[in-house]
Order: sequence, then structure tokens, then C-alpha cells
Amino acid sequence: MNIYVLLLFGAATLGSANFSPPLVNISLDVPAEQRWAPLVKLYDVDFLKKAAAQVIESILPKWVHRAVIPIVQKLGTHLPQPYGAEIRGMATFYDTAISDIIMLNFAYEVSAFCTSIVAQDAKGNIYHGRNLDYPHDVLRNLTIDVLYTKNGEVAYRGTTFAGYVGLWTGQSANKFTVSGDQRDKGHLWENIISAFLFKSSPVSWLVRETLEEAVDFQDAVMRLAKVPLITDVYYIVGGVRAGEGVVITRDRRGPADIWPLDTLHGEWYRVETNYDHWLPNPSRDPRREAAMQAMNSTGENAINLDSLYKVLSLPPVCNRITVYTTVMSAAAPERYRTVVREVRPGKVAPSQIHHSICSRDQMKKVLLCPLVAVRVN
Ligand SMILES: *[C@@H]1O[C@H](CO)[C@@H](O)[C@H](O)[C@H]1NC(C)=O
Ligand SMILES: *[C@@H]1O[C@H](CO)[C@@H](O)[C@H](O)[C@H]1NC(C)=O
Ligand SMILES: *[C@@H]1O[C@H](CO)[C@@H](O)[C@H](O)[C@H]1NC(C)=O
Repeated sequence: MNIYVLLLFGAATLGSANFSPPLVNISLDVPAEQRWAPLVKLYDVDFLKKAAAQVIESILPKWVHRAVIPIVQKLGTHLPQPYGAEIRGMATFYDTAISDIIMLNFAYEVSAFCTSIVAQDAKGNIYHGRNLDYPHDVLRNLTIDVLYTKNGEVAYRGTTFAGYVGLWTGQSANKFTVSGDQRDKGHLWENIISAFLFKSSPVSWLVRETLEEAVDFQDAVMRLAKVPLITDVYYIVGGVRAGEGVVITRDRRGPADIWPLDTLHGEWYRVETNYDHWLPNPSRDPRREAAMQAMNSTGENAINLDSLYKVLSLPPVCNRITVYTTVMSAAAPERYRTVVREVRPGKVAPSQIHHSICSRDQMKKVLLCPLVAVRVN
């Protein structure tokens, strides 16, 4: 009896404690459609299918989901490469409708709440950390760290979810680190349409492309600031030299604001959550203030990856929907670390999610846009 209770207790503790996500090697030398095959070893087909369905249903009511399948399928043939092929490959491995994998890849685009911090210590070292918040527990078990390899060497790395080809968090060793935070503008359907009609990039694809191509911090900042996107976003970028830290506030067409570190004036860190930094924060969301207070009390002499992790662990910076925390420093690439956060009680109820992500107005657009899209195509 006692042992039984102990086992139950033990299992419950294991299931909900912080843990490191699995590390997957994805070779960029392999054709895009085959690239994600290593995932099949990690996640069985049923689990991933069920997880995808849960995420999609948290965004679209079932009947809308069913209604848009043929349209998304049609649009799927126009997805830019290599991401289109990677998504097609993923759908094949998991024997899933390609429309579901596409929707999954656009779903996170609209609903990732986050906290990112870039900081410089008194010696000029740059540290970068981020929490990714998303109101769906299943993502904890889908979180993976990925090493993207080329010719047998790591080209860049990042943290993502199984089935999702973009990156919200990543590092190009000895060059720069980058994270993306949602800027509340986009709607799922508008984003999909914008991607196809205006050939804009999803924000997480631009992160990956930048990690793959940018030669240094400055080049990365230029690309992240300029390339047209399907939705607004904040990009937080850290480099390898003193002064190389910045928050880029993005409009779809270009930069709305560039906010670099300013250590000469004592501004040795930047905190970005999900609001424009020049505007007051809504009082219902105290994450930014809390993070700044913790950074202030840590101080520029004591900041490092460990103390940054502590700042990102304090409630409400780390909250009931925080899926993972990553800390990284491009100059010390081997210290990249992701921790999947324990499940916290009081999770958001599904009805609440529908309400916030899928308003009645949006529902109208969801139903009207497909007609427009089909006609244009
Ligand atoms: C995640 O995996 C753990 C261990 O397999 C399991 O106990 C837990 O229920 C899973 N959580 C979700 C949200 O699927
Ligand atoms: C992943 O690739 C790196 C670099 O080639 C290698 O050192 C490492 O052993 C690989 N890991 C796995 C799990 O295959
Ligand atoms: C943190 O310190 C800065 C600079 O001294 C100050 O402007 C800011 O108000 C402080 N913020 C908090 C929340 O303590």
C-alpha cells in the first residue's frame, strides 16, 4: 500500500518536473522531404497526431477546421521551399493530412506569448534568455532542441516543437543568438493568406533563414529588421561583442523601432515581453516589470547564464503557461540550455483560449477569406 502510494507520487512528480528536451540532429544535406525522418524515432505517430489535433482544436472549432481543409490543401502546393517540402515530408512520415501540418505551422505564429532578455555583463559578455509561453500543455512533450548540421558540422541550433519547421529560438555559434516574441496583431487566417498572396515570410521561418545565412550579428539584425513578414513580431538578438544586443520591433513591411543596449547610460539589458517598449505595460500583465526588477537586483556584475535563468524562473515571468526556458550566449555556444517547465496548476480552460484567439470577428474572416483566396489563386 505504502509502496503503491509512493510510486504514484513519484510518477506524478516525474511527469510534471522540469526536464531537458530531447536533442535531435537534422541534416541539411538530406533532401528537405526526408530531413525530419529522425523525429519518427522520438515520437510515435499516434502521439503526434493527437497532439496536433489538440493544438489545432484549441485555435479553430472543429467545424471550421473541417471546412478549411480543402483550401489549405490547395494553398499547400504554393508554400515556399524548403519549408514546404519539409512540411510535406512531415505529413508523409506521420501519415497525417498535410492541411493539419500546415495549420500547425501557422498556429504558433499567432499565439506565442513570451519574455526575452538580452544583457551585457560588466566585462562585456552578452547573454540572452527567453521564456516561451503558450496555453497548451501538450507542447511540453513536443519541445525539442535541434542541431542543424551541414557536412557533418553544426551549422546552427534551435528550440522548436515536433512538427514545426520554423524557429522561435536559435543560435549561430560565435555569431549571434535570436528569439522572437509575439506582437499582438496577426490572426491565423490573415497570416496564411498574407504568406501566399504577398510572398511574405512567417516570422519563425525568417529566424531559421537568418541563422542559416547571416554572417554576423549586424547582418542578422539587418535581415531580421527588413525582410517582409506575414505578421508583426519582436526579434531579440544577442551578439558576441560588447554592445551587441537589440530588440527589433517589426511591422509586416519593415522595422517599427530598433532598441539597442546602451551601456554608456547604464542600460545594460533589454527586456521584451509582448508590448511595444515605448508604451506603458497593461497592469494585468506584470511580466516586464517583474523581470526588470529581478535584473536590477541581480546587477551587471552578477549577470550570467545561471542568474539569467533564475530571473526567467521567477513568477510571473515564468507562469502557468510557460512551456520552456532557453538561455544562450553566442560566444559560448556549448552552453546553450533549454529547460521544459513543470506543469503548473490552474491551466487556462479551453473556452478561454477560444475566446482570446478566435473572436467572432475572426471567425467571420476565417469563413470569408477562403473564398477570396480561391478566387485569387
Ligand atoms: C507528457 O509526458 C508525460 C510522460 O510521458 C506524461 O505523464 C504527461 O501526461 C504528458 N503530458 C501531456 C500534456 O501530454
Ligand atoms: C549530432 O551531430 C553532431 C555534429 O556532427 C555530433 O557531434 C553528435 O554526435 C550528433 N548527435 C547525435 C545524437 O547523432
Ligand atoms: C531598474 O533600474 C533602472 C535603471 O536604474 C530603472 O530605470 C528602472 O525603473 C528599474 N526598474 C525596476 C522595475 O526596478
